[in-house]
Amino acid sequence: MRWNKASLLALPAIASAHGAHHHHQEVFSQDHLDELEQKWGTDWGFSGISTYAHLPHTRCLTNPEAAYDIAILGAPFDTAVSYRPGARFGPRAIRSGSARQTSFRGYNARAGLNPFTSWASIVDCGDIPITPFDNALALRQMSEAYLELAGRGPTQRSIQSGVKYLSKPKVITLGGDHSVALPALRALNKAYGHPITVVHFDAHLDTWHPAKYPSAWIDSEDPTTQSFLNHGSMFWLASIEGLVANGSSVHAGLRTRLSGDDEADYEEDTQQGWMRISTDDIDDVGTKGIVESIMERVGTETPVYLSIDIDVIDPGLAPATGTPEPGGWSTRELIRILRGIEGLNVVGADIVEVSPAYDSSAEITSIAAAQIVYEVLTSIVRKGLTEQARIESVKSSDKDEL
Ligand SMILES: *[C@@H]1O[C@H](CO)[C@@H](O)[C@H](O)[C@H]1NC(C)=O
Repeated sequence: MRWNKASLLALPAIASAHGAHHHHQEVFSQDHLDELEQKWGTDWGFSGISTYAHLPHTRCLTNPEAAYDIAILGAPFDTAVSYRPGARFGPRAIRSGSARQTSFRGYNARAGLNPFTSWASIVDCGDIPITPFDNALALRQMSEAYLELAGRGPTQRSIQSGVKYLSKPKVITLGGDHSVALPALRALNKAYGHPITVVHFDAHLDTWHPAKYPSAWIDSEDPTTQSFLNHGSMFWLASIEGLVANGSSVHAGLRTRLSGDDEADYEEDTQQGWMRISTDDIDDVGTKGIVESIMERVGTETPVYLSIDIDVIDPGLAPATGTPEPGGWSTRELIRILRGIEGLNVVGADIVEVSPAYDSSAEITSIAAAQIVYEVLTSIVRKGLTEQARIESVKSSDKDEL
């Protein structure tokens, strides 16, 4: 539980109700508490315990009463990667990279709001303690955790602010390798009752059939399906399970090499219902054109899972990742595109594949990842406000008609 001023004030009263043991406790005046808060209550970027943007931390998984409108959740898991491991340290690194973000100086001028002080209660829920020894168990842990955290009710803060469009809290997952998208999509399908549109920023397709990796079928008599969960096949698995909306999902930033000697990977991807925007498209249509194709395809209503692999950025600007592909978008271009698609109805998001052992000591990748989270947070908060304004204007025009 996180103690706020009201609960601190209430403490001595509760204690004395249970007996005489605590009668020496002082009752602190509100003035005194305010003074302490003013003196010690705000961290510098470099001080304090590391949470995302110095947000309050609650272990939401062991605290069923923890309420939030947006949860930051670490998924430190990297035993489904095909090349460089290490993304299990991603959540820590992104939190560290977010250190200069504070609610104190959090106003996002492009959006005209401070996401940390607006209607949404945002909490750092800590990490899912995921086993590195058994991927079947890991998948189960991630699925159960996501389902639990995405299923809680709205907070008093959002109810009081009147922003009601967010019927369910949003979870932003800090990866971890990209396979964390599968449990998220499983949970969102349960929560919303239908396949979810995925807007996927990545150098890679991640819709690969597992047999497109070496040794998946090494024992053809008895193939072990556990190898099917990997960070390049989780959208294929999600598609098999009917979790991905067919016909509205988008990849953006693709530039990887394909299997074999034809475009079969693309054909299979199309069969799974995806549209593809390549890295190179930006030279022809600019960030604006990329934004337009995504918005035209997806619209502003359908629930979207926004999945951002840090490797969509050029490895010169984000080197710390599992499967780097030269020639990517700049951090600035990606951020510009993310700002442009703020009208999407994002119901969950991830930022994955940050593997800090490959970062520079300047934390270049983690700082980029943290900034991406901030932009996504801003857009979700802004969407709540614009949606609320739309509901209000419909209500008042209804009244006018009466
Ligand atoms: C998606 O829709 C297309 C066109 O209707 C169809 O050919 C394809 O089999 C569908 N894919 C999935 C995974 O349902």
